Parts: sequence; C-alpha cells; structure tokens
Amino acid sequence: MKLSRRRFLAFTGTTAAGSAALGGSLLLNPAHAAEGSQQPGKVMLDYPKINISKASNLKVGQPVSFTYPDSSSPCTLIKIGRKTQGGVGPDGDIVAYSNLCTHMGCPVSYSSEERTFKCPCHFSVFDSELNGQMVSGQATENLPRILLTYRDSDDSIEATGVDGLIYGRQSNLLPGA
Ligand code: FES
Repeated sequence: MKLSRRRFLAFTGTTAAGSAALGGSLLLNPAHAAEGSQQPGKVMLDYPKINISKASNLKVGQPVSFTYPDSSSPCTLIKIGRKTQGGVGPDGDIVAYSNLCTHMGCPVSYSSEERTFKCPCHFSVFDSELNGQMVSGQATENLPRILLTYRDSDDSIEATGVDGLIYGRQSNLLPGA
C-alpha cells in the first residue's frame, strides 16, 4: 500500500504519541523499576539489607570487596577521603559500586589516585565521585551505584539497594535469589 506524505505523518505522529503514553508504564527501564515505587503501575522490588563493614575499619583509598544484592554480583566499597555526592558515614565519603563494567561486564578496578574505576578490557573510566558517571571509553552507561546507609549507633555501613542496572541482568534481583 502506498501512503501519501500526509497519511504517513499522521500515522507516525500517532505512533510516537502512543509510545510516549506507554513510556510511563509498560516501557519501564528495569533499573528504574528496581528502585521501587508506591505509584500504581510501577514494579516494586525488595532489596535485601546487608551489613558490609564498620565505617571505622575503612582506610582511605583501600577498596573493600563484597557482593550485592546476591553472591554473583561483585561490588566495591570505597572510602574516598573527601565528602562526596551521596557519600555516607561520619565523613560523608563512603560509596559503593558494582564491579562489572557496563560495556561488556569486565571487572573494573579502583584507582585511589584518580578516584575512578577503570576497566582493563576496553579502557572505560567511571567517576566514583559523580555517581559512577562514565568518563571515557566504550561504555555508554554509568557504573551502577550500590545505595548505602550508615547507622551511627554501631558505626555500620549497610547496602540497601542499587541505582542502575547490573551488567548482564534484566533485573537487579534474580528470581529466587
Ligand atoms: S568491558 Fe569494560 S570497556 Fe569493555
């Protein structure tokens, strides 16, 4: 069937409007869905709360490995050494990220001199002070951030959620994990 220009524009305009309407409900980014929400139509997932370390045990620039939200998701906890956006603990400088590069899943490593995470596979660099923002390289997504809380009463750092989609997953929480 041959479409006139007018009919073609009318058709694509309708399609775009339909997509926009769907964007708020059916086309959820799984990473955002995993954040959880009380709003109707959004998916709510319960992240586990896992105690990682006492803040006083952390040394500036020395990464601590842990897994979250399950044992197949390696992560790194870092005391950056200066107050940081979203940082927790007495000095507001403790952050954590997934260890899996968002390009193809290679494990990243922390550079305390540059305060970045670097991927050895294709040299992507992520800023630990800017929410894991992708600075350079092949990756197009930021490094997923592990959300933390600090409990003053016992000096503990807890992982409580993930901001961003962990590499290789459709949802941060695996079924049955
Ligand atoms: S896997 Fe990290 S840049 Fe390619």
